[in-house]
Amino acid sequence: MEIAKPTEQKAISIKPLTDHIGAEVFGADLTASMGKTNFDLIRRSLSDWGVLVFRGQNWTPEEHIAFSRCFGPLEDHVLSDYCLPGHPEIFVVSNIIENGKHIGAFGGSKRYHSDLSYMHEPSLGSIFHCLECPEDEGETSFTSMFAVYDALPVERKKWLEARLGVHDYVWNFENNHTDRPPLTDEQKAKTPIVSHPAVRTHPENKRKALYISDVFVSHFEGEDYNESRALVKELMDFASQSRFEYVHRWTPGDVIIWDNRSVLHKALPFDEKNSRRRMHRTTIRGDRPFLDV
Ligand SMILES: [Fe+2]
Repeated sequence: MEIAKPTEQKAISIKPLTDHIGAEVFGADLTASMGKTNFDLIRRSLSDWGVLVFRGQNWTPEEHIAFSRCFGPLEDHVLSDYCLPGHPEIFVVSNIIENGKHIGAFGGSKRYHSDLSYMHEPSLGSIFHCLECPEDEGETSFTSMFAVYDALPVERKKWLEARLGVHDYVWNFENNHTDRPPLTDEQKAKTPIVSHPAVRTHPENKRKALYISDVFVSHFEGEDYNESRALVKELMDFASQSRFEYVHRWTPGDVIIWDNRSVLHKALPFDEKNSRRRMHRTTIRGDRPFLDV
């Protein structure tokens, strides 16, 4: 639970950024020991607000990894070519080309998704550190799937609670990432199709969240493919209303933790030819999703 440096910090404070999603954390130095009380508040606030913003954090990859491990074991990404050399826990998201090669995953998803939802035990959360970004574009948008679920009509909630979403990484990759090198057989073998409850109970605060995305959910298990696609699209349009969202404009040194169990995120566009964007991401391993009815 404790992290590297010996001196404990003063009490941190949390300020909500919208009615439903996002809070900024003040007084935290993520490279230093923060103590159990502060860390417990961060963990609880992550469950409740879905997105936590920390500004002015200039940490090394080792410090990024050490803080991330306070939440649990980390994932190595399927696309190992885009991990930071020597640090398989850090997935690089960037449009920068060095020595004729992309240094990170480029053309990141501009559609709402939850990281690693296609795994048997999907990610608990992601921790993103901004190293370089354009000044006034390339934001990340988040939407609260707690608030989206709460706002659905009762009959729609009931229907969804009885469904499983089929999460298919290869289906998404082959349809939406034709600009990237094709997946190898080994990469495909690591990502078999998996079904998860379309509504999941958050294991910490017990709230229900809609757990689907247009990116990784090909259809609802046992339901017609085309009808499923139409419903997923309709639900994603519903989830894309500003009343459920927080949009973050990045500054170098920002760190954001988001909860992949209750929040979807997407990259907003920027001038990928002329601007530089470089982010480091760790991904915290999670549990098998479940629904308590
Ligand atoms: Fe993502």
